[in-house]
Amino acid sequence: MKKIRYRAPLYEALLEYSKSGVIPFHMPGHKMGKGLPDTFSENISKFDITEINGMDNLHDPRGLVKKSEALAAEAFGSRRAFFLVNGSTAGILASILYISNKGARLIVQRNSHKSVYNGMILAGVEPEYIMPGLIQHFGIPGPVSPNDVNDALGKCHDAPAVLITSPGYYGICSDIKEIAQIVHSYNKILIVDEAHGSHLRFSKELPLSAVESGADIVIQSAHKTLPALTQAAYLHIGGRINGDEILEKINMLQTTSPSYAIMSSLDLARGIMEQEGQQRISELLKNIQILKTRLKECAGVKILEDARLDGTRLVVNVAALGMTGYEAAQTLREKFNIEVEMADLYNMVFVLTISDSFEDLDKLSDSIMKLCKRYGKGIAQGPDINRIPEFNRKSGLISASKSPKTIMHMDKAAGHISGAFLIPYPPGIPLVCPGEEITFEVLNFIMDVINVGGDVNGVDENLCVKVIN
Ligand SMILES: Cc1ncc(COP(=O)(O)O)c(C=O)c1O
Repeated sequence: MKKIRYRAPLYEALLEYSKSGVIPFHMPGHKMGKGLPDTFSENISKFDITEINGMDNLHDPRGLVKKSEALAAEAFGSRRAFFLVNGSTAGILASILYISNKGARLIVQRNSHKSVYNGMILAGVEPEYIMPGLIQHFGIPGPVSPNDVNDALGKCHDAPAVLITSPGYYGICSDIKEIAQIVHSYNKILIVDEAHGSHLRFSKELPLSAVESGADIVIQSAHKTLPALTQAAYLHIGGRINGDEILEKINMLQTTSPSYAIMSSLDLARGIMEQEGQQRISELLKNIQILKTRLKECAGVKILEDARLDGTRLVVNVAALGMTGYEAAQTLREKFNIEVEMADLYNMVFVLTISDSFEDLDKLSDSIMKLCKRYGKGIAQGPDINRIPEFNRKSGLISASKSPKTIMHMDKAAGHISGAFLIPYPPGIPLVCPGEEITFEVLNFIMDVINVGGDVNGVDENLCVKVIN
């Protein structure tokens, strides 16, 4: 029979990737279906329905959706849970809209996800920044210090809330329990972007989850670390938050045709974790420990180990191999059929979940060891970029976002006001936000990063940046 071929490049690329035998150490947490029951995977297209009779309505849940959300609240320990079908992004935007009628500013850490910045622009809220620490050698953001939160609250009286990201992309957690106590002593609201930490609740061997730590609004990308479909996320609230008001904001941001495949995967992921999470995370952590022990024998790689680290996140520093993280990730892809979650100048980041088997992790440690032996160049890395230049705010984020902008070569940009974020990886902390001055120091820092093969978001391939007219 003649095979029909459609002109569908995206579909074809996915088909090829799905058949490639790749080992995915990236999101979503179900790892290309390995962590999902066959009944789910086989029926997914049949689950893709609309609000037919009996299936309830995400925007006004009274039946099945309400029941599933209540089970999620119970499992995660919150007062009320809401299903999100547009990722944590929708929950973060909704929570910032929620607090925006209570005050003009929001205390946020400088390395917040772009949805936090977009939320502030949409809601007309100005940021007051807290700087995270830096973890030397890895060049990545550390936790937020509770003292810094206290200082920010002491001087920023018109901020009704603090928004902290924990864990961050590299798995480092802040002390949310202590931060919650401080925030509540000022009678303010604590929002936690726990996009990377939906699994924390299900293991005593991992840092305490934000809901259990006393945060008021917690947003979790279930799809990142649980066996749930991409875009599936939860928003949890505690006693200080008005549930009807927050639902109103969520409804403004979500489609009126929510995917039942995504919603049911939120329901299923919660069910799986509730029943098997503790034991399977424990097994996963044991397997990770075996992998880490093997990698310690490997000269040239350094594994991130920190008391504040979510133990399921693996960060491998390859600087001493004389390679960038990008080069190492490319070698793993091309030579070993392993796909990493993210790479930066120094590091590779692997997302490990209960869907990864011992064999997957064994193959990973084997491949990294071969990478060291066969491809390592054994030379030390270039300049020290473990520093963050001071920022110099010239106008607010909101007015900068509304101003007309021009593209300009970096050579001419010193002294101009930036119209965009300039973010080097690592550390993934903005050097400059819209409305801040582009100084010589910033430009020198950016060139240092680019010259050693690093990426800077906001600088295009012609070394141009966006400035305010
Ligand atoms: C720290 C953080 N917060 C929020 C988000 C947004 O999550 P989602 O992709 O589920 O919208 C991300 C996504 O990568 C993230 O890394």
